[in-house]
Amino acid sequence: MALLPILEYPDERLRTVAKPIDHIDDALQRLIDDMFETMYEAPGVGLAATQINFHRQLIVIDVSEDKNAPLVLINPRIVETEGTETCQEGCLSVPGIFADVVRAERVVVEALDRHGELRRIDATGLLAVCIQHEMDHLAGKVFVDYLSPLKRQLVKRKMEKRHRQGAPAASASA
Ligand code: NI
Repeated sequence: MALLPILEYPDERLRTVAKPIDHIDDALQRLIDDMFETMYEAPGVGLAATQINFHRQLIVIDVSEDKNAPLVLINPRIVETEGTETCQEGCLSVPGIFADVVRAERVVVEALDRHGELRRIDATGLLAVCIQHEMDHLAGKVFVDYLSPLKRQLVKRKMEKRHRQGAPAASASA
């Protein structure tokens, strides 16, 4: 397995819209393993393929306390949403920045797992937030897009400063 470099905001490649995966092969299984390793190492609770510059609809998530509940979502789509909730989010592509985002409180998602089996996930709480956050990445969106233009400008300046300084180790989440 290998750690993968994570694209950081405001990298334009984070704006790429991911295409569906039409073929699950050994190379994809290796990539999924590498994505989990990268996510756990960061440490984070979710990682979208977009963030490692692979522009296909693939997400890995583990919101469990003991990091023993890996979840793979391939070609996910939200089929039902309910309610709203505000949650403080972070992102491995925007290290050190945390901000409140309004999301659906509950989402029902259909996605293929890593074996190509169709799964239906009824999610609330952190898992629901994480799924919506990662699916945004696949659509070329980053959570700071929800902030006011002024706040977003501040985040952009902070990130540019970080990159000028040679990007110290991250401490973030999804
Ligand atoms: Ni993220």
